[in-house]
Amino acid sequence: MHSDVAVLGLGQMGSALASAFLRAGHRVTVWNRSAAKTAPLVAQGAVAAASAAEAQRSAPVVAACVLDYPALTGILDPALSSRTLVNLTSGSPEQARSLATQLASEGVRYVDGGIMTTPPGIGDPRSMILYSGDQDAFAAASDLLSALAEPINLGAEPGRAALYDTALLGIMWATLTGWLHATALVTADGSTAAHFTPLATRWLGPVAGFVAGYATQVDAGSYPGSDATLDVHLATLEHLVHASEVREVDPALPRLLHDYARRAVEAGHGADGWARIVELLRAKA
Ligand SMILES: NC(=O)c1ccc[n+]([C@@H]2O[C@H](COP(=O)([O-])OP(=O)(O)OC[C@H]3O[C@@H](n4cnc5c(N)ncnc54)[C@H](OP(=O)(O)O)[C@@H]3O)[C@@H](O)[C@H]2O)c1
Repeated sequence: MHSDVAVLGLGQMGSALASAFLRAGHRVTVWNRSAAKTAPLVAQGAVAAASAAEAQRSAPVVAACVLDYPALTGILDPALSSRTLVNLTSGSPEQARSLATQLASEGVRYVDGGIMTTPPGIGDPRSMILYSGDQDAFAAASDLLSALAEPINLGAEPGRAALYDTALLGIMWATLTGWLHATALVTADGSTAAHFTPLATRWLGPVAGFVAGYATQVDAGSYPGSDATLDVHLATLEHLVHASEVREVDPALPRLLHDYARRAVEAGHGADGWARIVELLRAKA
C-alpha cells in the first residue's frame, strides 16, 4: 500500500475530495471510469491507478464518490477486504445498511458519509460531512477525513448518516420553496427579490430559534401554544392563501400548511403550538 487514501470516482465531488486530501499532504491514489479525469489530480501529486481494483489495493482507506449505489457496487472488488470503505456516494439509509451488512461479511470496514456541501465547500472546516458506521474505522480515519470538512460522527448505525443527510436536504428544499413562494408574492406587487431577501434571511434567524424550542416539545410529546396557538396560525394562514390566490401565485403550498393547521384545530388542538403538526406528519407515514 503506497497511499494513505484511494479515491474512486472523480466527478465534480470526487475530484474535490481527492484535491482536498492532496492539499492536506496525504498520499492519494485516484481512479475514475473515464481515465481522462485523473490528469488534473495527477498534476497535483496523485497516483492514477489502472483499475478500480488496483486503487482498492493501494491504500488502507478507500473513499468512493460515484453517481449511485449501482455504480458503486459495480466497481467494488475483493481487494477491498481488510480495508475501510468510506462511502460518500449518496443513497438511502436502507441502501447504506444493506451494503454495510454485505461488506462486513467480506471483511470490509464500512463507514457511510453524507456530504453537506457542494464541491467548492470541500476542504473548508466550516463545512460538515456526516458519518456513521464502523466506529473503530471511523476513529482511525477521522484525521484523514478532517481534510475534507468537519467530520460529524453519528454513531455505529450505518444508515443514520444517509437518514440525517436526506432529512437535512428536506429542510433545504422546504425552506427554498417557502422563500421562492414568498418571492413570487412580493414580486407580483412590483417588489424585487433583492429588496425582499435581506428581510427573509433576517427572519430565518428567529425561525431557527423557534425550531430549537420546538425540538424539546417534539421529544416530550407536549406542544403548549405558549408562543402562538394553532388557532392563531390558522387565521393567519388564511391571509397567505388569500394573498396567493389574488395574485395568481400557486396556492398549493399555503393550502397544504392551512390544511395541517385546520386538521389539528378540528381535532381539538387549537390551543397547542405549531409543533403539534408533527403528530399529523407521523400519522401520514
Ligand atoms: N455535487 C454535489 O454538490 C454533491 C453534494 C453532496 C453529495 N454528492 C454526491 O456525490 C456523488 C457524485 O456526485 P458528483 O456531483 O461528483 O457527480 P458527477 O460529477 O456527475 O460524477 C459522477 C461520477 O460517477 C461516476 N460514475 C457514474 N456511473 C458510473 C458507473 N456505472 N461506474 C463507475 N463510475 C460511474 C462518473 O464517472 P465518469 O466520469 O466516467 O462518468 C463520475 O466519476 C453523488 O452520489 C452525489 O449525490 C454530490
